[in-house]
Amino acid sequence: MDLKQYLQEKAALVNQELERLLPSDLYPPVIHEAMRYSIFAGGKRLRPILCLAAAEAVGRGEEGNTLLPVACALEMAHTYSLIHDDLPAMDNDDYRRGKLTNHMVFGEGLAILAGDALLTYAFEVLLRFARKCPDQTRALQVLEEIAVALGTQGMIGGQVVDLESEGKSGLFNREELLSYIHTHKTGALFRAAIRAGAILAGANDAEVAALTEYAEQFGLAFQITDDLLDITGDEKCLGKPVGSDVKNQKITYPALYGLEESRSLAKKTIEAAVWALTNLPGQTMPLELLVRSLEKRVS
Ligand code: IPE
Ligand code: IPE
Ligand code: MG
Ligand code: MG
Ligand code: MG
Repeated sequence: MDLKQYLQEKAALVNQELERLLPSDLYPPVIHEAMRYSIFAGGKRLRPILCLAAAEAVGRGEEGNTLLPVACALEMAHTYSLIHDDLPAMDNDDYRRGKLTNHMVFGEGLAILAGDALLTYAFEVLLRFARKCPDQTRALQVLEEIAVALGTQGMIGGQVVDLESEGKSGLFNREELLSYIHTHKTGALFRAAIRAGAILAGANDAEVAALTEYAEQFGLAFQITDDLLDITGDEKCLGKPVGSDVKNQKITYPALYGLEESRSLAKKTIEAAVWALTNLPGQTMPLELLVRSLEKRVS
């Protein structure tokens, strides 16, 4: 299986649907322009692709297209989190997805509103999906999980602790803090994306549990490699500045454990993710190759 081709095909489907969902001719024009600017600035579309791939892993790939609105809502919510993460009051970064950040182009006020609008619109899209979904119980479960993953028990919780621990090198229990930050600011949305794909594809409890385990390991491996790339990565390739974490004195894996140990931790985590896929009935190769590709980014 060719992962690059798979990712291109899925990203194209997601982009087409995003294009349909985010019209450019609505009033007031500037907010829609700002929303579209960050959505179409690039981005790997990992969360939507993982959602679709999870459905394939339980053998319901053919239903992938019906899940596209859910996949796109995940990307909208993720993009909102990036716009706000880059704001001067947060990480204060000038580049994202290879382009100037939203606030650099539209100003802080509109960047905040564009983030808010993408998050709200994500739930509008999800609700429309749920209304038409033949299995209302599963649809509502997924909506609730996505909401929780984005809230104070998920991404916001992680971002709060990330922000509050900036520059505090003397903090007690830094390992625990780091683990909390990573599982929440990054892990929670990956987990919800993968579980959403599985649950909506009709997965049974054991299949959902296996994919949840994969998702948690994927999220951790992803954030360890994101931390590593902030040090060893190439700005052009990443499309965002390197050195942002050092600048802001963040608690990260390399800051706490060093480069080598972080790499080996990422490797172990990736193996655990692959292991979790063992007994799934559908096509698991995309999920396996996806998590393995994280290691290639940092080796
Ligand atoms: C970046 O996520 C933010 C983190 C959670 C570390 P991605 O690396 O998936 O960013 P895009 O969507 O490809 O821009
Ligand atoms: C941000 O983590 C995660 C979210 C946006 C929720 P980072 O601050 O490490 O992400 P990057 O490195 O700026 O993409
Ligand atoms: Mg941040
Ligand atoms: Mg950041
Ligand atoms: Mg980072």
